[in-house]
Amino acid sequence: MATPAGFQALPLPLVQLSLAAVLKCGQSFRWSILPLPKPSDPTIPAQEYRLCLRDRVVCLQQSQTALFYRSAFPEPQPSPTQLQLREAETLLWLNDYFQLNIDLPKLYDEWAARDSVFSGVKERFGGIRMLRQDPWENLISFICSSNNNISRITKMVQSLCTQYSPALLSLPDLSGHETHSYHPFPPPSSLAAPSVTVTLRSLGFGYRAEYIQKTAKMLVDVHGTIEEGREPSELWLESLRGLATAEARTELLKFIGVGRKVADCVLLMSLDKKEVIPVDTHVHQIAIKHYGFKGLLKGKSPMTPKLYEEVNSKLVRIWGDYAGWAHSVLFTSDLKSFASYSVQNPTPSAPVKSSKRSNLESLLPTPPTTPSPSPLKRKASASPPESSDKSAGLADRMKRLRRK
Ligand SMILES: *[C@@H]1O[C@H](CO)[C@@H](O)[C@H](O)[C@H]1NC(C)=O
Repeated sequence: MATPAGFQALPLPLVQLSLAAVLKCGQSFRWSILPLPKPSDPTIPAQEYRLCLRDRVVCLQQSQTALFYRSAFPEPQPSPTQLQLREAETLLWLNDYFQLNIDLPKLYDEWAARDSVFSGVKERFGGIRMLRQDPWENLISFICSSNNNISRITKMVQSLCTQYSPALLSLPDLSGHETHSYHPFPPPSSLAAPSVTVTLRSLGFGYRAEYIQKTAKMLVDVHGTIEEGREPSELWLESLRGLATAEARTELLKFIGVGRKVADCVLLMSLDKKEVIPVDTHVHQIAIKHYGFKGLLKGKSPMTPKLYEEVNSKLVRIWGDYAGWAHSVLFTSDLKSFASYSVQNPTPSAPVKSSKRSNLESLLPTPPTTPSPSPLKRKASASPPESSDKSAGLADRMKRLRRK
């Protein structure tokens, strides 16, 4: 597949990153997925993925061997020289957000060597890695996630952005018939006013409305706000990356609407705690069905702190240091919406209502699989940042450079 017009190409095989899986499996709820009118390569999903950041919309497409990226900016448009710098920033962001410095097929091999259940799903569910999300967005999204499902959380997060964050820019869809506006995720200060609760309730957030407003208010009361750029609360949340897992969890549990499960999602998905496994009834069921964990199948046993710890430590023993990442592959393979998914033909189906069988069950014993392409020895075109601090530093330097 040739590089689409206006895009840059980053060599990256699907087994390192499958956008069709990673952006739909309940980690982030804010990516727009747009169909491409004329698929140039029938073996890959004919889709473009778009995410609105603070100052740009990142657009992605993917082939078997490359990730294509471009950014759209609000007026005034950057000059060609500025544009080069800004695409370099986008590349840094991609390396950070998708954690491309982590060799995923190598982790898959390690998990498969430790766990025969994992080797059964390995080929079909390749390319599922942990995103490194913005902690503030991640926290609010997972407060929305309690007693909820992926499609409803997605709608809620979208309406939160439309309601509380002005549109950054508009872009046509890929057939050129319709224009979509893109809103960044709202900062803590815009969700802290008491009236937010009423508004969010009217938008269908239920009891989560109050949790969101109270959490935003707590952050803003303690850390203050500023007129421009990232707010102190957001930076503070990001600084939790530097704490040990237990200490960071203690801080998160202080917020309203944040229990152990939500805290663990944030630890894993935005605070670099790769070993953390958020346990819910779904994960509990996986542990019972496939890992000999004692408990009632379909029994809906309440998730007590003791049970949480037991499921958690059992799965960490099986998968090791990157247990949270492995859990996300198993979790995705068990989603009904991924019933017909395969990394080599990634078209997640609509949920199949009649099917009671989960993916994991239909996959056992090991299904016939197509051989995956040999993992390309990656020469990342920009060295991936080791920490957010470093990448923020680089982005800042670039901003200063631009001002000159
Ligand atoms: C998600 O939850 C909503 C509200 O509870 C429900 O109406 C909808 O059918 C659910 N969707 C799926 C895919 O389960």
